[in-house]
Amino acid sequence: MTISQRFSKFSRAERLQYLQKIGLLSDTEINFLKSSISNEIINLSEKWVENVIGCFPLPMGIVPDFPMDGKKYTVPMVIEETSVIASVSKMAKWINQCGELTTSIHGQDIIGQIQFPTVKNFSECENIIESHAFELINLVNEKVVPNLVKRGGGVNHITVRKIHRGNGSNMAVVHVYMHPCDAMGANLINQVCEFLRKPLENLINEKTNLCILSNLVDSKITQAVVNINLNQNRSFTLKQAEKIVEASLFAEKDPYRAATHNKGIMNGVDAVLIATGNDWRAVEAGIHAYSARTGIYKGLSQWTIEGNYLVGKINAPIIVGTVGGIINSHPTVQIGLKILNIQQSDELARIILSVGLLQNLAAMRALTQEGIVQGHMKLHIQNLFISAGATQEEQDSLKDLAEQFLHEKNKITQSDIVNLLDQWRKNGD
Ligand code: MEV
Repeated sequence: MTISQRFSKFSRAERLQYLQKIGLLSDTEINFLKSSISNEIINLSEKWVENVIGCFPLPMGIVPDFPMDGKKYTVPMVIEETSVIASVSKMAKWINQCGELTTSIHGQDIIGQIQFPTVKNFSECENIIESHAFELINLVNEKVVPNLVKRGGGVNHITVRKIHRGNGSNMAVVHVYMHPCDAMGANLINQVCEFLRKPLENLINEKTNLCILSNLVDSKITQAVVNINLNQNRSFTLKQAEKIVEASLFAEKDPYRAATHNKGIMNGVDAVLIATGNDWRAVEAGIHAYSARTGIYKGLSQWTIEGNYLVGKINAPIIVGTVGGIINSHPTVQIGLKILNIQQSDELARIILSVGLLQNLAAMRALTQEGIVQGHMKLHIQNLFISAGATQEEQDSLKDLAEQFLHEKNKITQSDIVNLLDQWRKNGD
């Protein structure tokens, strides 16, 4: 039996021993992996994934007084990138002083797909499925998701989409729409689709290929809108607001810029998704597909000036849960949700998108004014010092010098920090 066949049967201690034996990790590294996280988390990790050797800690911070829909939230964010939490906090402060952030949700259902790769007669299949939709919905609600139905959710709707295969024949794709209540709903909708597979095959006498949820949930769109009164905000002139509108147009017209524009939004979105135990890959996939829904990839937010106001709008599928998955068992996620103090998953979706919008504002403000380097690198200097092996004392002594260097040259790299450190050590200061 090869090692990869046996590896999954190893205990965690055996896996670490193995890595040590083949020379991939030293004693110090093994000890670090063993001691860098609590036993509670590591034991839970073994229940979540396979072949666990340790955990990967990331910083968790908060944005205090985050204003949304007339309420104030304390928002937890998990992210390793400098400036993200600081810049959302700064924007939140501005909105508190001279703006307003409001949100809404349009639609409620998530989508599952069942693929019939080739159907002999699409219209006939469509007619049969649609005429049996009511009984299929009742059947699956009763057999698969009765508890969800009791909580006000369940399958609501079934449609059939025609997809041209390009060779004259058609694929039929059944879309199943389900309200998942406060769960993200991935496992439930997948079970619903698996269950419907056979009855559908029997009805139309065709064979399915696969069934799975779709992350492009255009049936449930969250919207956030921010207004900033330019007359009241002294840090923000009309000229600066015009530059933001220009940056927004750039992201709307050019996919190269749109990708980076949206990356800034995802800095905020992902950080709250992770802090609340949600599947950030699913939301990422959905958001990027939604951004390209017209056939051209575009920026997710739009900024305009309306009267005295700078107005930012964003729409996106944000499918999240406050129950299910690791949410109920991960102690840090529980803390994140407790800090947020929200009642429903929709409230979480609104917060997540709002954080993305404010992160976008912060990025565009910096880019169109002092540039990203100053703010970003100032905080990043510390990381560069750590990578260069500087002691805490050296970091404290050289911080001002490094910031001055950045200010004068408008750049600072790892080798600049190494040079500063070498010079310092040579001078014996
Ligand atoms: C960096 O993480 C994010 C930005 O590139 C976003 C943007 O360009 O809008 C600053």
